[in-house]
Amino acid sequence: MTIHQPPVTRDGDRITVFEPPDEPYRLAAFDLYRDIHKGIRAELFAITSTAGSLDPTVRVDREAIADHVAAVGETLRRHAHHEDQFVDPVLVEHAPVLAEKVTSDHDQLERRFDGLELLAREAVDSAAVDHRRMIHLLYLELATFTSAYLTHQNIEERVIMPTLERAIGPAAVQAIDEAIVASIPPDEIARTLSFMLPAMNTVDRVEMLTGMRQSAPPEAFAAVVDLARSVLSTADVVALESRMVLS
Ligand SMILES: [Fe+2]
Repeated sequence: MTIHQPPVTRDGDRITVFEPPDEPYRLAAFDLYRDIHKGIRAELFAITSTAGSLDPTVRVDREAIADHVAAVGETLRRHAHHEDQFVDPVLVEHAPVLAEKVTSDHDQLERRFDGLELLAREAVDSAAVDHRRMIHLLYLELATFTSAYLTHQNIEERVIMPTLERAIGPAAVQAIDEAIVASIPPDEIARTLSFMLPAMNTVDRVEMLTGMRQSAPPEAFAAVVDLARSVLSTADVVALESRMVLS
């Protein structure tokens, strides 16, 4: 029997997670990170590129980026909290060093993003002479944060996900995901789906909506379909309708 050790080591306070093994990538039977992480990546790319292209002299544009950065901050905090609450106990049991690493990453990333929210807010009412400098600093800081966050997501998707699957099996992984979704209020689900659905591909969307139709009340499913129609392009809606009946 092969004993799989999570690819992580500790040397004093330093925890090292090794790169995913150099073998053919295998999709998880149920990947609880995939859809939400696609949405979060899209949001991080959006705020970074907007900070790079907005006119720093226009107050309403500085205000809009500060509001968007704050909304992404809220998403990141809630997402990390869901992982800490529902995934961490399993990791603590089966891969404690990895659990420690991910908890400390969440704390560091959260503190770092708090600083970004402050910077974006300060830029709104800053002196005219500082507008260009502060918005460019915001752009650089968002880009660097995104780089660190992408590394964190890569560990979750390519190290933690297979570790979870080996430790508890796909059905228990899916049960964790269902517990997370059940804990989220409907208005937050709608907000999250509005940036998650456009970031997903048609196969992902069909899988998610089919699962929702089986588990959610008909009126809740209808509301999600309305939302999907409002946030997806016409071509994406047509592609979805060619694979499943939405009504
Ligand atoms: Fe995370």
